[in-house]
Amino acid sequence: MKALVVGASGYAGADILRILLRHEKVDSVEATSRAYEGKPVSGLHQNLKGAFDGNFIGFNADKTDADVVFLAIPHGESMQQVPKLLERGIKVVDLSADYRINDQALYERYYVKHTSPNLFKEAVYGLPELFREKIKKARLVANPGCYPTAAILSLAPLGAFKDKIDASKVVVDAKSGTSGAGVKAETFYMHTEVDENLKIYKPVGHRHQPEIEHILKGFIPKISVSFTPTLMPIIRGILSNAHVFGDLSSVDLRSHFEKFYQKEGYVRVVDAACTKNVSHSNFCDISVHYDAEKKRAIIVSAIDNLVKGAGGQAVQNMNLMFGYGESTGIDALPHHP
Ligand SMILES: NC(=O)c1ccc[n+]([C@@H]2O[C@H](COP(=O)([O-])OP(=O)(O)OC[C@H]3O[C@@H](n4cnc5c(N)ncnc54)[C@H](OP(=O)(O)O)[C@@H]3O)[C@@H](O)[C@H]2O)c1
Repeated sequence: MKALVVGASGYAGADILRILLRHEKVDSVEATSRAYEGKPVSGLHQNLKGAFDGNFIGFNADKTDADVVFLAIPHGESMQQVPKLLERGIKVVDLSADYRINDQALYERYYVKHTSPNLFKEAVYGLPELFREKIKKARLVANPGCYPTAAILSLAPLGAFKDKIDASKVVVDAKSGTSGAGVKAETFYMHTEVDENLKIYKPVGHRHQPEIEHILKGFIPKISVSFTPTLMPIIRGILSNAHVFGDLSSVDLRSHFEKFYQKEGYVRVVDAACTKNVSHSNFCDISVHYDAEKKRAIIVSAIDNLVKGAGGQAVQNMNLMFGYGESTGIDALPHHP
C-alpha cells in the first residue's frame, strides 16, 4: 500500500504523514511540496526525524503510482487534481472543501467556480459516524471541515426530535485554535495578536456555515444554522457550543446521545466536553445540557482540529475505503495534561 500526501508541508498534511508513518497497512509514504521539493521532510517537520528520512517530491497527478492520495491543499486546487487521479484508478481523500457540498450554486456562492461538479454525485462526505457504509464504497471522499465535524456530530442526533425543536434558529458558537488557519504567516494569527486574547472572526457568512447546514438537512430538513467562530490562544482544538431551542423536557437527552453513538469508537458522551481531553487524538467528546427554564439544549463538542478535524479522520476514511480496521493507525489516546 502506497500513500501520497499532497501539501505535506502544511499542518494538515504533516499530521497525515505522522499518522501514516506508524500505520501497519501502509508500506510506503511520499510527501509533496512545491516550496520544499528536494529538501528533507524531517528538515521542515523535525518531529519526524528518524521516522521519515525522505525528501519532499513534486506532485504530478498523471504520474503518481500511489494507491491513495490525500489532498491537503486549498479549495480550488483539489478540483484540478481529483478528476485526473480518479481516472487513473487512484482513491482520493480530499481535505479541501471542493467536494463537501454537492450543490454547485451553493458551493460557488461561498468558494470559487467549480470545474468538476459532475463528481458531486459520487463524492462521499467523510464523516464515518454518519456515512460509514457509503465511505466503504467510495473512490472520492470529501473529508469534512474541522468546525463542521464538531458541529454536525453534536447536532445530527437531534434529528430524532426535529418536530420538538425550533430548527430555524439553531446557533453554533465555536472556538478554534490557531492551527486551523494553516501554516501561512499572517499578522492576524501571530503570537502577539493571539496570545492572551480571544477574538471573533467572520461572525457572518463563514464558509463552514453552508457545509454544516447542507449535511444536517439530511437529519433535520428545516435546519438553519447561525454560525460564529472565535479564535482561541491555543494551537490545537475546537470547542463548539450548539444552542437549540425547544421543549425537550420529556426527553432524556444524554441517554439519547449515548444510544446514538453507542457503537462509535471515536465519539464519547462526557459530562463537560473540553479540548484538552481530546488533544492529539481522533476523539470527539460531546456533552449534553438542557436548560429547562429557557427550553434550550446546549450540545458541546470538542475535537482536535488536526486529528478528528483533519488528518485522523482522513486516515479513518482511508481505512474504511480499503477495508482495514477503522482504528488502524489512529488509536492514540489524548494527551494530558
Ligand atoms: N488546519 C486545519 O485544522 C484543517 C482542518 C480541516 C481541513 N483543512 C483543510 O486542509 C487543507 C490544508 O490545510 P492546512 O491547514 O494544512 O493548510 P496549510 O498549512 O496552509 O498547508 C497547505 C499546503 O498546501 C500547499 N499549497 C498552498 N497553496 C497551494 C496551491 N495553490 N496549489 C497547491 N498546493 C498549495 C502548500 O505547500 P507548498 O507551498 O509547500 O506546496 C501548503 O503548505 C485545506 O484545504 C484546509 O481547508 C485544514
